[in-house]
Amino acid sequence: MKLKGVILAGGTGSRLFPLTKVTNKHLLPVYDRPMIYYPIETLRDAGIKDIMIVSGRGHAGHFLELLGSGREFGVNLSYAIQEEAGGIAQALSLTKEFVDSDKMVVVLGDNIFEDNLSEAIEEFKKTPIGARVFLKEVEHPEHYGIARVDGDKILEIIEKPKQFIGNLAVTGLYLYDNQVWDVIKNLKPSGRGELEITDVNNFYVQQGTMKFDLLPGWWADGGESIDTWLEANNLLARKSKTSIPEDVELIIRETTEKIVKETMKLMKSQASDTINDFSSKYKKIYETTPEKTEEAEKENLFKGVANDEKDAPFDINNYYKKD
Ligand code: DAU
Repeated sequence: MKLKGVILAGGTGSRLFPLTKVTNKHLLPVYDRPMIYYPIETLRDAGIKDIMIVSGRGHAGHFLELLGSGREFGVNLSYAIQEEAGGIAQALSLTKEFVDSDKMVVVLGDNIFEDNLSEAIEEFKKTPIGARVFLKEVEHPEHYGIARVDGDKILEIIEKPKQFIGNLAVTGLYLYDNQVWDVIKNLKPSGRGELEITDVNNFYVQQGTMKFDLLPGWWADGGESIDTWLEANNLLARKSKTSIPEDVELIIRETTEKIVKETMKLMKSQASDTINDFSSKYKKIYETTPEKTEEAEKENLFKGVANDEKDAPFDINNYYKKD
């Protein structure tokens, strides 16, 4: 069975205003290339040659001018126009004829992946039905579709959760079988008036045919905010300037993560030792009665405390002043 590629590059890009006032988000540079180059390369590197790009009406000509037939990338590009930003799932529905009876790999045009996903994609090709997504830990779960996971099962996906339910974001690369067209046909617009890709994914979750992988490498949603766009730029700039082979880089990253975790653990335990030391010293002083003064003196607890204060009731402020 063949796999078709779909890149969704419609929408308004309003979160990057004013950068996207006159140009399309996916044409903005990310380090040394336009953003749209990255999803094309992700698909090509996974062995997918036939790709349809869905863009909004305003900038469709710019995409054609920039990318042409796709020859430069070694792929065959087709184009579709989304007249209005009706949501990710609505944009996907425009590619039904292009995908035909094949399965598909859908990538959001603002998503950049470090990992080569060909292994998971090859595996998906062989599964008779279902869908597959890729999860990545994020710092701000409220900005993404978040998966609640139990072992190797996704229990549900919540789009931009207001309460904390976990930090595993569903990244913008989805593998679907042909059921997706019926699922989209039956979707109702969400509160923000869009056909949500999370509702599509939850269909497969409920059907029990949704699989997932955790992404080992970095992932960037270049369209989430100006900060994430800048972060993606910096990441790619750093990456292009280091000539470390991928497997070595993975070892370095894993080792660094381990060192940071161990250091944090050590710092926490040292901090708690210091607190314990202090509180036992404090306890001893507090419990010191005139009878115990001699004993306390031996332990040098009254270093710096004037003689006439030694038998006075303990006052923490004196202690601080004198010590
Ligand atoms: O980046 C991952 C996240 O992408 C997921 O975790 C979320 O579940 C998913 O809903 C999506 O969230 P975003 O808020 O980032 O979606 P955004 O509106 O930015 O759209 C992402 C891409 O989809 C955008 O680059 C172009 C395309 N798109 C979007 C809309 C709304 C379209 O082609 N047409 C559209 O109408």
